[in-house]
Amino acid sequence: LVIVLDFGGQYNQLIARRVRECGVYCVVLPYTTPVAELKAMNPIGFIFTGGPNSVYEETAPRVDSAVFSLDVPVLGICYGCQLMAHSLGGQVTAAREDSAREYGKTETFYDAGCRLFKGLPEQGVSWMSHGDYMARVPEGFTLTAHSAACPNVAIADEARGFYGVQFHPEVGHTENGVAMIRNFLYEVCGAAGDWTMEDYMKTSIRAIREKVGDGKVLLALSGGVDSSVCAALLAEAIGKQLTCVFVDHGLMRKDEGDEVESIFAQRSANFIRVDAETRFLIRLAGVDEPERKRKIIGEEFIRVFEEEARKIGAVDFLAQGTIYPDVIESGAGDAAVIKSHHNVGGLPDYVDFKEIIEPLRLLFKDEVRQLGRELGLPEYLVMRQPFPGPGLAIRVIGDLTKEKLDTLREADFIFRDEIARAGLDKGINQYFAVLTNTRSVGVMGDGRTYDYTLALRGVTTSDFMTADWARIPYEVLDRVSVRIVNEVAGINRIVYDITSKPPATIEWE
Ligand code: XMP
Repeated sequence: LVIVLDFGGQYNQLIARRVRECGVYCVVLPYTTPVAELKAMNPIGFIFTGGPNSVYEETAPRVDSAVFSLDVPVLGICYGCQLMAHSLGGQVTAAREDSAREYGKTETFYDAGCRLFKGLPEQGVSWMSHGDYMARVPEGFTLTAHSAACPNVAIADEARGFYGVQFHPEVGHTENGVAMIRNFLYEVCGAAGDWTMEDYMKTSIRAIREKVGDGKVLLALSGGVDSSVCAALLAEAIGKQLTCVFVDHGLMRKDEGDEVESIFAQRSANFIRVDAETRFLIRLAGVDEPERKRKIIGEEFIRVFEEEARKIGAVDFLAQGTIYPDVIESGAGDAAVIKSHHNVGGLPDYVDFKEIIEPLRLLFKDEVRQLGRELGLPEYLVMRQPFPGPGLAIRVIGDLTKEKLDTLREADFIFRDEIARAGLDKGINQYFAVLTNTRSVGVMGDGRTYDYTLALRGVTTSDFMTADWARIPYEVLDRVSVRIVNEVAGINRIVYDITSKPPATIEWE
């Protein structure tokens, strides 16, 4: 077990994911976890995450320095690195604008003699995001990497197994970042690397059967990857004891509700689809603020689900497709809230159940997909691109109407269709259309039009925490544009979003 100690960074869960990808089990715990508790878990290593604070601030999150006396290796990342330096007697200060303050891709030079960089190229791009600087490193440490602007990008105390890096090895933009984490796990911590998905599936089916006994389980199925895999896992484990309720809020993409029904009506003996489009539209009428939309959809979803659950009557368990990032995001740390994701935290009040069951609670997204494959779900479902819980409501900018949703649905369908036809669907991790609230003047035939602008968004990313805009060939964009303005009424202008994340987010709202 490796413990990732969370100091509230935006990338904290990515670190844990990378560790698991390396075949090593890990958990993320808040930095406030008492050292005695950490010690009792018998970890082979610690990773301290980044975080938004500066260690020299009085209110900055600290760690009990007893953690450095457990004889367990530590890898500190960004804030975690500065914290380690600060705790062990080094000095961290704010970097001056023109010196060691770095953001984004940075050419970095590594000392191959350091165990962290063993066997890796001595030069490469790393992803930086820090405004602080280690002015003095603690005793026993040496400098093991540098960039043009910063002499101390990485520090190491090989004897004690303490390593610190200012950059983010967990982020895809850092070349060989995962290999560095792997080096820490295998070269420094001596990990065995025995975490596999097949074991996990068997163990969790056994655990579900044991826990549920002959009880009844109720699940809200959205048709997304998580709830689908959750449904498939439960169906495999307990068969007819499972009831799936699919709340169709009318904010899905074209034909999607029917697809969900056709897959799960077969797999689950008790599958119920509720058509709730009208009530969602009524609640959302005139609402243009994104967080408000999310809140309303989350609440209404629960109300509809509760009504259905009342009809079903008492059940023993309520199942949720909560996955590990949700667990970490909604409590363990204190990362700044950029957007509230509606599928967490909202528990139905009036459903008559005894206990919650969350069979995917410890899995990251790729692990959930892998589990779906083990369960025999079709590849297109397992690899379905992410779709936000609030659906198309947050892809119609400003207030919603059924008409705007239908316009968006048609345009989005054409975009996805052309991407698939061009064979680009595997290479682009998420792509969709956004109906903006900007109208502009156009000309069609001999007439003036004053219609909406549609934005197309396509991103490549491995983690959805950072993303680059997809370089879709002009010919494909051209086909999409021509088809949409000709086939979809109400749109006379099409733009392509060329911002990465950060500074933009993937969705527009
Ligand atoms: P952003 O826009 O924050 O999106 O860069 C990152 C990923 O999260 C998805 N997303 C959501 N998913 N409920 C969800 O279940 C939400 O409210 C929500 N908002 C964004 C988004 O599609 C992208 O994959």
